[in-house]
Amino acid sequence: MIAEQMNSAMPAIAPCHAISACRAIIAIDGPAGAGKSTIARHLARSFNLLNLESGAMYRAFALKALASGIGFEDVAALQALSLETGIHLEPTATGNRVILDGADVTTQLRELAVTDGASRVSVHPQIRAWMVDLQQKLGAQGGVVMEGRDIGTVVFPHADVKIFLDAAPEVRGLRRYEQLDPAVAVEIQPEEVVDELRARDERDRNRADSPLKPAADAVLLDSTHMTLDEVVARAEAIVVEKLNL
Ligand code: DC
Repeated sequence: MIAEQMNSAMPAIAPCHAISACRAIIAIDGPAGAGKSTIARHLARSFNLLNLESGAMYRAFALKALASGIGFEDVAALQALSLETGIHLEPTATGNRVILDGADVTTQLRELAVTDGASRVSVHPQIRAWMVDLQQKLGAQGGVVMEGRDIGTVVFPHADVKIFLDAAPEVRGLRRYEQLDPAVAVEIQPEEVVDELRARDERDRNRADSPLKPAADAVLLDSTHMTLDEVVARAEAIVVEKLNL
């Protein structure tokens, strides 16, 4: 049902330039600030695939929990809330529009409280099971790049291409700081962004259910000393090689 609704909302895309890319599933996993969204967007454009950000779905649910006054540790209430929550991703050329219960909440999802909340609601197995099911439906037809933390390990363990994108925490934190709205950046020290990122890493890597870790067959790509162009070129080369294009 959700997959059908998604398809009707998805923009038409040009035919794939190679048959093997049309139905491919590309999984991009890695910690916060590693550049997953940027790389996923580039790959989607280069290979004519849909770009689906799984983290945006956890963020949308955290936003709803915040608005409902439900604590991030209250599993029973969160689970009840999930039963009355509809989350849809609408891929666009510049990223995903995120629709929560029919309303576009895209611009609210980068707020610090929501970012922190997404990492907290995502530790609960009951919430993960719901999200994984939604994500599997979204990608079932193939032709997608999906980025997150557990795409290559849990959501699509048989993905055609798995890339684990990483970088040193200081580098990731500074990249995030530089992406902040200047009005927000003046209120914050770069070290605060690095600290927040480390705390989130810690939680994402150490939760009991589906912790962030590379799949055994993922290609590791450490961008600490690479420019964006170099990372994009390397990621494209990995896809070409894995799909035999
Ligand atoms: O990718 P992101 O920063 O938008 O993700 C926000 C949080 O959602 C992240 O801290 C952990 C959680 N998440 C997850 O547990 N599994 C995913 N596949 C994607 C995100």
